[in-house]
Amino acid sequence: MSLRLGDTAPDFTADTTAGPISFHEWKSGAWAVLFSHPGDFTPVCTTELGRTAALSGEFARRNAKPIAISVDSLEDHQRWIPDIAEVGGAEVDFPIIADSDRAVAQAYDMIHPGEGDASTVRAVFLIDPQDKVRLTLTYPKSVGRNFSEIVRALDALQATDAGPVSTPAEWTPGDRVIISPAISTEDARERFENVEELRPYLRLADAPR
Ligand code: BEZ
Repeated sequence: MSLRLGDTAPDFTADTTAGPISFHEWKSGAWAVLFSHPGDFTPVCTTELGRTAALSGEFARRNAKPIAISVDSLEDHQRWIPDIAEVGGAEVDFPIIADSDRAVAQAYDMIHPGEGDASTVRAVFLIDPQDKVRLTLTYPKSVGRNFSEIVRALDALQATDAGPVSTPAEWTPGDRVIISPAISTEDARERFENVEELRPYLRLADAPR
């Protein structure tokens, strides 16, 4: 069965371009962005891992550690890294898991038989510091992901964890947030700045700092 939001992310040991890791120990205390790609030396994947490398500082600012995975060998990953760095214009400072036996891909249900060969699709798991799966995305092999959206989703998860709020469509940091329906408008006016009642069930406020 596939993983659901709120499930504990399966732990695993694996060989990576940064050496062997034990996943929960490696991410200890941080968010992880575990993302699969179909294969090394392929065009879309090269742009995706290059973009991840370029966003290294953005992930670090959010206490988030990216980690890529495909079923290719460690040797292939190592040979591919210079291409990723050149295309992305940044050092590849995150590990790439070599999942040749598909153990991690199967634990995270990253292989979808209807999507061609037995390589991984473009899956993303945002996993919180308590090792819970908080957000998943699945893209077909033909469609490259928007890594700015992955950073934005991390921002939204961290903002909603900080208060009894949720984020509206298209939210980005600095935008107003939605006050939990569990709080009355009267209480909200005491707890939040600039409360605006658009509907009795839709109240906006400045995000708590
Ligand atoms: C790519 O990265 O370009 C790619 C890989 C596998 C299937 C389709 C596209």
